[in-house]
Amino acid sequence: MFRKLLIGGMTLSLAVVVYLVMTSFQARPVVNATPLVKIVVPARGTTVSWNTLVSYKISVDDKEDGNSAYDEIAPHEVLLQVFYVADSSTLSVHVNEKANAAPEPQGLLSITTLPCFNCHTANAKLIGPSFDRIAARYPHTSSTEDALVNKIMKGSLGTWGEIPMPPNPDVDPATAKEIVRWILKGNRNPDHFFLAGLEGSFRTKLKMKGDTGKGVYVLRASYTDHGATDGSVDRRRGQCSVVLKLEK
Ligand code: HEC
Repeated sequence: MFRKLLIGGMTLSLAVVVYLVMTSFQARPVVNATPLVKIVVPARGTTVSWNTLVSYKISVDDKEDGNSAYDEIAPHEVLLQVFYVADSSTLSVHVNEKANAAPEPQGLLSITTLPCFNCHTANAKLIGPSFDRIAARYPHTSSTEDALVNKIMKGSLGTWGEIPMPPNPDVDPATAKEIVRWILKGNRNPDHFFLAGLEGSFRTKLKMKGDTGKGVYVLRASYTDHGATDGSVDRRRGQCSVVLKLEK
């Protein structure tokens, strides 16, 4: 009787051990860490002057993609949103990181995953014209949209100068259309615009007559990662905001 119980007990504990070993070998769900984005410069609360250049520097650390300090993050995938808030008492709406985790416009997000920012910037000439000059040149009509979609896909030469834009055969017409809409409309607000890169600069606005002295600039850096190492497409976005005061 005692022997029977002992053997029964041993079989039971063996079963428990086998169960525990088996479950620990089961595939765990792949976790994609959220990137850690930091605005290194300027520091939180810095006071900036009107109508001057403000330099910025961003760092990104992502468990799967790597660290910007080791050149593992493509600069053109790092975005900076710059916006002027005329009344700083409404600021809490803008700096709550969770409430504002809304992703960037789709057209802009597509651009960050393509080579466009290697040759274009939002507001200064690089190899190609800046996106704000392109927006200023064309009326926003559906025929302009179609013409620019065509240029992006097939390439362009002679419209802006001697340097050609190579074709971008990986861009499908629907994505190209979203991109063109963003270029023509999405970045034209001087009080709210986007820049790409780990560092750069922008000019603050001119002080308006009758300014109430309550204005601030908000800088928001963001990076959307490439998903988990197994290639699953659960992309995570990290962001960081800094508020800058304006001189009185
Ligand atoms: C290798 C550099 C390079 C890359 C990469 C590049 N462009 Fe260009 N882009 C240019 C140049 C140079 C021009 C001016 C061409 C001309 O004068 O016709 C241009 C022109 C344009 C124009 C204006 C065309 C017109 O008719 O006015 C748009 C819009 C544009 N690019 C969007 C994009 C987008 C979107 C991407 C990414 C999918 C991209 N470019 C990638 C160099 C580039």
